[in-house]
Amino acid sequence: AVTRREDYAPPAYWIKTVDLTFDLDPAKTLVFNRMQIERNEQVPVQALRLDGEDLNLTRVLVNGESVSFRVENHQLVLENLPAEPFTLEVRTTCAPEKNTQLSGLYTSSGGFFTQCEAQGFRRITYFLDRPDVMAVYTVTLKADKARFPVLLSNGNLIEQGELDGGHKHYAKWSDPFPKPSYLFALVAAKLVCREQKIRSRSGRDHLLQVYVRAGDLDKTEHAMRSLIASVAWDEARFGLSLDLDRFMIVAVSDFNMGAMENKGLNIFNTKYVLANPATATDTDFFGIESVVGHEYFHNWTGNRVTCRDWFQLSLKEGLTVFRDQEFSQDLAGSPSARAVKRIDDVRTLRQHQFPEDAGPMAHPVRPDSYMAIDNFYTATVYDKGAEVVRMMQTLVGREGFARGMTLYFERHDGQAVTCDDFAQAIADANPDSALARQLDQFKRWYSQAGTPRVHARGYYNAEMRTYRLELSQSCPPTPGQPDKAPFVIPVALGLVGRDDGRALPLQLVGENAAAGTERVLVLSETTQHFEFVGLDAEPVPSLLRGFSAPVVLEDTLSDAELLILLAHDHDPFNRWEAGQRLALNRLLAAVKGDGQVHLDAPVIDALRAVLHHPTLDAAFKELLLTLPGESYIAEQLEEVDPQRIHAVRESLRLQLAQALHADWEWAFDHYQVANEGYSPDAASAGRRGLVNLALGNLCLAAVERQSPLWPGKAYQRFKDADNMTDRLGALSALVGAHSELAEPALERFHALFKDEALVIDKWFALQASAPEKDGKVFARARQLLSHPDFSLRNPNRARSLITALCFSNPAAFHRRDAAGYVFWADRVLELDAINPQLAARVARAMDRWRQLAEPYRSAAREAIARVAARAELSDDVREIVTRALGD
Ligand code: ARG
Ligand code: ZN
Repeated sequence: AVTRREDYAPPAYWIKTVDLTFDLDPAKTLVFNRMQIERNEQVPVQALRLDGEDLNLTRVLVNGESVSFRVENHQLVLENLPAEPFTLEVRTTCAPEKNTQLSGLYTSSGGFFTQCEAQGFRRITYFLDRPDVMAVYTVTLKADKARFPVLLSNGNLIEQGELDGGHKHYAKWSDPFPKPSYLFALVAAKLVCREQKIRSRSGRDHLLQVYVRAGDLDKTEHAMRSLIASVAWDEARFGLSLDLDRFMIVAVSDFNMGAMENKGLNIFNTKYVLANPATATDTDFFGIESVVGHEYFHNWTGNRVTCRDWFQLSLKEGLTVFRDQEFSQDLAGSPSARAVKRIDDVRTLRQHQFPEDAGPMAHPVRPDSYMAIDNFYTATVYDKGAEVVRMMQTLVGREGFARGMTLYFERHDGQAVTCDDFAQAIADANPDSALARQLDQFKRWYSQAGTPRVHARGYYNAEMRTYRLELSQSCPPTPGQPDKAPFVIPVALGLVGRDDGRALPLQLVGENAAAGTERVLVLSETTQHFEFVGLDAEPVPSLLRGFSAPVVLEDTLSDAELLILLAHDHDPFNRWEAGQRLALNRLLAAVKGDGQVHLDAPVIDALRAVLHHPTLDAAFKELLLTLPGESYIAEQLEEVDPQRIHAVRESLRLQLAQALHADWEWAFDHYQVANEGYSPDAASAGRRGLVNLALGNLCLAAVERQSPLWPGKAYQRFKDADNMTDRLGALSALVGAHSELAEPALERFHALFKDEALVIDKWFALQASAPEKDGKVFARARQLLSHPDFSLRNPNRARSLITALCFSNPAAFHRRDAAGYVFWADRVLELDAINPQLAARVARAMDRWRQLAEPYRSAAREAIARVAARAELSDDVREIVTRALGD
């Protein structure tokens, strides 16, 4: 069944308080649920319909008396209820150990955990499981004391004690903040915690705790640090303080996503909590910082102000991603370190959101309909949603945006609201802004899907010393939206001197002075012209600086002009972009042409200059010297032959390794991190990243000319490394170069880390995402399915192999013999019986099948049709394959 945004109606009843008692047993847990309910006077009298799924109903009492009821369509229906507020008591049982979907109440490593967003609470008890029903919760947990010594729920611990002569124990929690059911959580398990008391700016004391399994305590320092930094940042940047005495993070190894912002009791995938230098890479450390921040920031943007309905998901997710991105940028510090984070975020957007916007799952940031809401926790809702918030900040300025946030909380604290309410608050706090003037049009970013294209053309008039910039926009059709109206697009720009790379003053015709060397133009019509005056020579335009809007920029810059930007642009984002485009131009020409790619001297010299540049950051150099990925290249083409793209890119990769050989050697030595203990700060992480990139290039060139020197060095480094970044870097250098030493290194790696689940995930992922050669990588991946450590039940492990192959390794996945598609269909069907949410994620690997050349395309369609033909498919997978087939 399809749910539509336009069908929203307020609930017929409010649930004011909930008193839950859990008698926890893995096989059969008893749930007693006492609710205070009252009619919503605004809507006509009607039956009360409570959602429930996979529950055994044992008792229903209204004001203590038994009543008649029925259960239909996963709902408990009660009619003829009292007109006055009443108490409803519902008793049910459920089987947490059988819950392989990991939604609702489930067991993991012998403990109990919950995941309720979006609709998991109905798998725990009957309820109005929708975010606009907010209640005050009291929760009592009872469990065996030896097996489940830690009992946690939202809010404050108000009582605890023993039961059954000490065999069992209980804990009673109360959360003073009314909340929607998706923010409920409980944990009952054998855990230990790292804790820290902090005093916030406001002078209030708080207890912060990070709960993990006993052996993992030495991996919690970074998560705690990140949490402390998050609390401080939200106070400093937005004046938002922690509103709880106690804030808990719990790590669990079976989890469908990254983490969850349950009020006061965040539950995290272990991947985003556990880290020490021996087991986690720099990337893992940064991931933890951003996810800890993200979940913490939800306490205001999501929990204090929540969503009226699930179509408004981006209200909290887009905004909170924006906030976590800003947090990480602010922690990074220097302008260039900020730019590195920005480039990373844009790469993610282009790699995941752009293809989504171009495929069968394209949907607006505020979707119009869904079959399974879990399918809409997407790159569009999260990452494009964050770009929409970022554009608002660009249009009203940083201070203006902070004012808008303040107004948003003044108006809506404690409410369940819509994306419109947010945009209105930002605009109302900035009445003179371009945002306020064009708010309705700006909000098309919420309602229209698809990635807009901005075409830019410049005309220089030497006589008048003017430069006329023509900007126009269009947006391709998406499913259900054939025609698009123009967007409001902020275009940040600068003009760069052709000869000296100088940042030129920007003065529009009619202005009496230049307004600096960077400004934001607002494109809101189909075509607009902007005329700059006082220019002695034709400038090189640097457009869409900092990626000021989530669009594809189509300009007419020549290679010569891109080389100027690469050498001189003051905007680091566009400097990086110029380098990427020079590489992309060559890759695309070869893919479309005769398949021969050639790295020419001007580009080699420019890249060499970047590598040796005296002031650019190592992390920035690493990004600049990494070629665009195969999926990004594919997105630029009408028709895609993944094998051809792979061959061309591999060839360019080798040329880059060979042409800069001496420079890579220099960089490898020059950027070594001084041996004074590992620290995951941005500067040393950047050096490690560049050293590892150099090592990868050196191994690649060495294997090609059959020299054992660099592979030998890499193997030694792999053995001696004192941190996971260097160890994994050396291992990937060997694997990526197809060195003979890769096998022994992989074996040794497995033996060293066989008890570290998150590291074994890396071991699977590295093999499944290795550059394909003669079909060996695919064969290996298929073999790994029967490795004793592999399991589809653990989402991280399943993803480590399947996502790595089907999403990150196009050349191994898209095979002329269709074996990759058979692999895909088999896994989707197997997973669907265990965990539909995860199955639906994997199913999306085929989104872009229509873009494939033959024979891939027909084989892909056939595989999707085979999945779709299965009668007993979950709604989650059904929605994905139906859309993919386009009927
Ligand atoms: N709200 C969580 C977060 O972004 C993610 C929840 C995902 N839920 C889902 N059903 N996929 O932090
Ligand atoms: Zn979130």
